[in-house]
Amino acid sequence: MTEPDRPAPPETLAVAELGEDAAREELARLAREIALHDDLYYNRDAPEIDDDAYDALRVRNEEIEGRFPALRRADSPSLRVGAPPRSGFRKVRHSAPMLSLANAFDEADVNEFVARLRRFLDLAAETPVAFVAEPKIDGLSASLRYEDGALAAGVTRGDGAEGEDVTANLRHVADVPLRLRSDRPPALLEVRGEVYMARPDFAALNAARAEADEQLYANPRNAAAGSLRQLDPKVTAQRRLRFFAWGWGETSAPLGDTLWEARARLADFGFTLNAPVARRDTAAALVAWHAGIEARRAEFGFDVDGVVYKADRLDWQARLGAVSRSPRWAVAHKFKAERAVTRVETIAVQVGRTGALTPVANLRPVTVGGVSVSRATLHNEDEIARKDIREGDTVIVQRAGDVIPQIVSVDLDKRPEGAAAFVFPETCPVCGSRAAREEGEAVRRCAGGLVCEAQAVERLRHFVSRNAFDIEGLGARQIEAFWRDSLVREPADLFRLDPRAKEIEEREGWGEISVRNLLAAVAARRRVSLERFVYALGIRRVGQANARLLARHYGSLDRLRTAAEAASDSESEEYGELIAIDGVGPGVAAAVVDFFAEPRNRAAVEALAREAEVEEAAPMESDSPVAGKTVVFTGKLETMARAEAKTMAQAAGAKVTGSISKKTDYVVAGADAGSKLAKARDLGLTVLTEAEWRRLIGNDDDERADPPPTDA
Ligand code: IVH
Repeated sequence: MTEPDRPAPPETLAVAELGEDAAREELARLAREIALHDDLYYNRDAPEIDDDAYDALRVRNEEIEGRFPALRRADSPSLRVGAPPRSGFRKVRHSAPMLSLANAFDEADVNEFVARLRRFLDLAAETPVAFVAEPKIDGLSASLRYEDGALAAGVTRGDGAEGEDVTANLRHVADVPLRLRSDRPPALLEVRGEVYMARPDFAALNAARAEADEQLYANPRNAAAGSLRQLDPKVTAQRRLRFFAWGWGETSAPLGDTLWEARARLADFGFTLNAPVARRDTAAALVAWHAGIEARRAEFGFDVDGVVYKADRLDWQARLGAVSRSPRWAVAHKFKAERAVTRVETIAVQVGRTGALTPVANLRPVTVGGVSVSRATLHNEDEIARKDIREGDTVIVQRAGDVIPQIVSVDLDKRPEGAAAFVFPETCPVCGSRAAREEGEAVRRCAGGLVCEAQAVERLRHFVSRNAFDIEGLGARQIEAFWRDSLVREPADLFRLDPRAKEIEEREGWGEISVRNLLAAVAARRRVSLERFVYALGIRRVGQANARLLARHYGSLDRLRTAAEAASDSESEEYGELIAIDGVGPGVAAAVVDFFAEPRNRAAVEALAREAEVEEAAPMESDSPVAGKTVVFTGKLETMARAEAKTMAQAAGAKVTGSISKKTDYVVAGADAGSKLAKARDLGLTVLTEAEWRRLIGNDDDERADPPPTDA
């Protein structure tokens, strides 16, 4: 799977070498890390790693899950798209989920995509499959709902299930028709596509912002996202946003039999579709077309980061359906990252919320793909050692349309004489505490905990962040200053600022209005969901998904606290209960136990609970009769391919395994089922025919198993 242009993830252990325990830990780490980057990217418009590095994390996650399917976590990134919407706009549920795309990086991946699709459809070798290929533009997706031909609502993707109502803003986007061009428009048409900013408009916007001493947008995608999510539509109107349609959601009447026809219909209705477009029917022809577009990428007036291939026949799209976060009928074939040569001026080490020491290279500024770059992440000390990056080195940096780029390699011929290998500090550069590596961990962590200013400040930042307590008006600088002057040392202090309003007003950068706003923002959060509360604590390994699992399982803060404290005894029932929560492995359990074992953490939680009212959480439920059951398919299935059957079962919450045991709940037997069927009979297991199985999971009509296509 590796090729030079796909950066290796920071971990050095190949997936094939991971044992089960290491894999479990690694999946937990990846879930956490990907959730963090999703939040930075989708909610804050401030990504910290480039697309390639992000893709590498996802690919690794999927590869590990491929090897250890049983270890897939409930909060696995492979089951999720994007990040939940931020507040400020009304939340709207999508009629059909808005998915994302799987990536292909090279010809082999494209071959595999086509082969998998053919296998899934069970096509004979001589049956051709046509694909539509079109450029992938890096913007943010939106869904436009037209009722009787008039634009009724416009919603961002959000987390794929629920987005933000940005109708007022979308009305100001060129290329978004306010009415469909048609005498007899459909009763309902939901058009999906990409909101983006063209390069010249991006350059002009940033120039104006530089003039006004405002923070610059890192790239056109962030500028588009920031512009669309303005609470004041007038601001959006001043930004030159554009829209092209790449698909659709709910429709009252089909748009055609093929994507090609549907595109023409959408164009007739007045939408802009992205061009150039081509129809090809082999992987080789698609790849050749991709090469042509890549060679011309600089000529486009907007950032193109790849080509999307989609199966043309819509009935096939419907059968193919989606696997976790992306449709099986489409793939994004990415371009190679853009690169440049520059020099590493210094290597600095930053300290994060959990004490992780992260090295960063300060670079001599260089333009990579139209964006000036002055820093690159170095991930961790192994990564520096592996690439042998030293201060003063001449390096190749790459970015794939994003902010913090990566260092690909060092030009050893240009290494200055006497350049010393970088010595990673063994003490925290901020507080001086010991910084050690735990076994099996790539990162070194500061042991300063609550005395380390960097950690304390980062924890407070996390506490007020959007998915935690969501307190507006407190940036890193303000928190740092509050912490230094002992105004806010722990989260509960935030709720005790009222008597100190005057004092804050007098501080630099503050005034009567900003203080009033801050106190109002704090007051608005005196009631908070348990899920947010738990996430806000910043417990290691407990991101939003795990916070949700814990909240739903324990229901109340008291129950969670009591259980977590009792679970410090690994023989206890409470410990057993904690690790039995679906999705919570030993790694997360240990982090939760450690957190509550620390008296200062308990005191901080206690103090906080006195200030904020924590709502109880609703328990989880599942309604399918096969949820949680183990199923084995055997023999030749008549009405569905094996992969399709498996997806259908998993969608209903069942576990699909390959071998029969006493623990198997159902055996679905097709034609010529051999030894497995015999064994099932021996064990007295429930054996079902395909039809019985479909009836059981409520899929006994003529429809194919997978949900209808959500996007074209
Ligand atoms: S088709 C089921 N076509 O890229 C989703 N998406 O990385 C079908 N995008 O979520 C998407 N250009 O926001 C499609 N020509 C194109 C696209 C495109 C950009 C975006 C879209 C998607 C994301 C996936």
